[in-house]
Amino acid sequence: MKHLVSMANLSIEEMQHLIDTAIQYKTGVVQPHLKGKYIANLFFENSTRTKCSFEMAEQRLDMKRINFDTATSSVNKGESLYDTCRTLQSIGCDALVIRHQENDYYNQLLEMGIPIINAGDGSGQHPTQSLLDLMTIYEEFGRFEGLKVVICGDIKNSRVARSNYHSLTALGAEVVFSSPEIWQDDQMPGEYVELDDVISDVDVVMLLRVQHERHDDGAQGFEANTYHEQYGLSQARYDRMKEQAVIMHPAPVNRGVEIANHLVEAPKSRIFKQMENGVYVRMAVLTETIQS
Ligand code: CP
Repeated sequence: MKHLVSMANLSIEEMQHLIDTAIQYKTGVVQPHLKGKYIANLFFENSTRTKCSFEMAEQRLDMKRINFDTATSSVNKGESLYDTCRTLQSIGCDALVIRHQENDYYNQLLEMGIPIINAGDGSGQHPTQSLLDLMTIYEEFGRFEGLKVVICGDIKNSRVARSNYHSLTALGAEVVFSSPEIWQDDQMPGEYVELDDVISDVDVVMLLRVQHERHDDGAQGFEANTYHEQYGLSQARYDRMKEQAVIMHPAPVNRGVEIANHLVEAPKSRIFKQMENGVYVRMAVLTETIQS
């Protein structure tokens, strides 16, 4: 695996291999390292989890990190993404982790000869988020085949929905969506359902953040309480979930909107487990891309 830019480029075997590798790293069966390898993390969009999780993974792998700060870089003098990446390659970086607001930004970089790891592109893909979600589901159920998953919320603007719809469907899960009409996405061939109609039947309730920053009309017309009533995870919906079912959310969470505040750390919630697993998934992705 030379790059990781989209879940659509991974075979089922590659997904399963990355999950298994991440679990081996988590359980300490294998103690990997990339000593002597150099990495730069380029975050052109804000991030807490993905950025810090990559940094933690890189430290655990004993890598050396080149500090790249978009605010003080020559990007602000107009340097292109291509020239920025080519520069980091020229000075000796072995791989680049990039989050960028432009969908498919990575296409211009793939022939450069340095591994590109996509940490999120616009509303396109978020492959390491998808892999950590898959790892969390696999740890819980030991399989994907036959699982029922509802992805609920701002589908249209969500790279998490796009990545997970592809990967979960490929792995044999049954995925449905629940979303206000304005955030439905006819580019993805999933069925739209009412959350209340499926809540007692699904194994995974995957909630999405309402992404106000991607809405052309800002927060116009959005009412948090109304959204929560129709699409949020309330105590009443929580009580109807199957005993073994789990709640997931990529975070950051809008507490009281996508999920009731007190349910964020409820027994069925795996939200912080997802973040924990992200470190091991990113260790697996770094080792697979850099050592390929
Ligand atoms: N889940 C996720 O990508 O979070 P950040 O935007 O904080 O990285």
